[in-house]
Amino acid sequence: MIRLSEDAILGLMAKFRADSSPLKVDLGVGVFRDAHGNTPVLECVRAAERSVLAEQTTKSYVAAAGRAEFNDAVADFVLGAAHPAVRDRRAVTVQAPGGCGALRVGAELIRAAAPASAVHISDPTWGNHAPLLGSSGLRLLRYPYYDASAHRLRTDAMLEHLNGAAQGDVVLIHACCHNPSGADLGADEWRAVVEILQRRRLVPYLDLAYQGFGEDVDADAAGVRFVAQSVPECLIATSFSKNLGLYRERVGALIVVGNDASHAAAVKSHVLQIARSIYSMPPDHGAAIAAHIFATPELRSLWMSELAAMRGRIREMRGLLADNLRRLRDDDGYGFLRSQKGMFSLLGASTQAVDRLREEHHVYMTADSRMNLAGVMPQNVAYLADAICRVMD
Ligand SMILES: Cc1ncc(COP(=O)(O)O)c(C=O)c1O
Repeated sequence: MIRLSEDAILGLMAKFRADSSPLKVDLGVGVFRDAHGNTPVLECVRAAERSVLAEQTTKSYVAAAGRAEFNDAVADFVLGAAHPAVRDRRAVTVQAPGGCGALRVGAELIRAAAPASAVHISDPTWGNHAPLLGSSGLRLLRYPYYDASAHRLRTDAMLEHLNGAAQGDVVLIHACCHNPSGADLGADEWRAVVEILQRRRLVPYLDLAYQGFGEDVDADAAGVRFVAQSVPECLIATSFSKNLGLYRERVGALIVVGNDASHAAAVKSHVLQIARSIYSMPPDHGAAIAAHIFATPELRSLWMSELAAMRGRIREMRGLLADNLRRLRDDDGYGFLRSQKGMFSLLGASTQAVDRLREEHHVYMTADSRMNLAGVMPQNVAYLADAICRVMD
């Protein structure tokens, strides 16, 4: 058996660790960082974890669907309690091991129900989408999404591509905070995409990994809610890795919206069978923490304020980097950093420029020039902006 090459992001992390320069800047790894460069445990999580541990009387199995109270709370959080799909019991929610687990279970469901369907993923997209969905055996196609050198959505090309998709194909859409571009669909684009989904009878698969990192928890779910009330069927993979900082606890869920309550219940039975055949049951600890926070008003409001602080820091660093670049260059060519959403944006640099940033300036980002803006600090932003100008100009 040949040895596989190192995962790109793990290789980047290793290079960063081995770099002894005090100037080094990590914009590579996709986790939130506070102003000290730490990825903190949220206070609401610490408090909930204490209660969970104090109240837990057994470590016996929960269920293949995970915790019922977690699943109910997640459906309300993502779709809103008054959403027609929730009200009419057309939405079924199954806890999964993180957003990745949810994406994979959803892919297996598609593969079982419609093996000939292709899944259309955005170009560019998060590096793990193709492996997660493709390894279920589904055929993947890419729709144009973002022009990294012009720093804008490729709306017309995207709509043209989707117009050519075959009936029953699946379209994976980043619900908010597009990874890696930070460029989200606006209300007009959502409407145009939904019109095509309806007309071409395509099945949307929404990836909601950053709810609360863009505008706020409701605005970030607006696209998902709109889609879920406009089409007969859709899938939603959600994650609490980022917005609750529960990365290693593996907390996520797959929501499937079906035609009616009995269709949704039938789909759920298949989802559970798939889960049983892959990992049997999702891990409970993180979901117990999340469920406790959902059910405890003081902890929920503490969470919302901690989430607002994370979002605020990312926005502030976006603004600070754009301002520094504007000062150095005398133009606002990087102004897109201010308006893009979530942790990531694409610098729009060549791989050579990315290599130079790393080798000459100790600035680390992935080869596609994705920057994690949470790696920007007031103390490194001037240095970072200067390094960017040196390789880009
Ligand atoms: C676009 C996107 N989807 C899904 C995920 C899944 O995250 P996790 O499995 O850690 O919950 C991530 C994490 O980086 C992501 O960026």
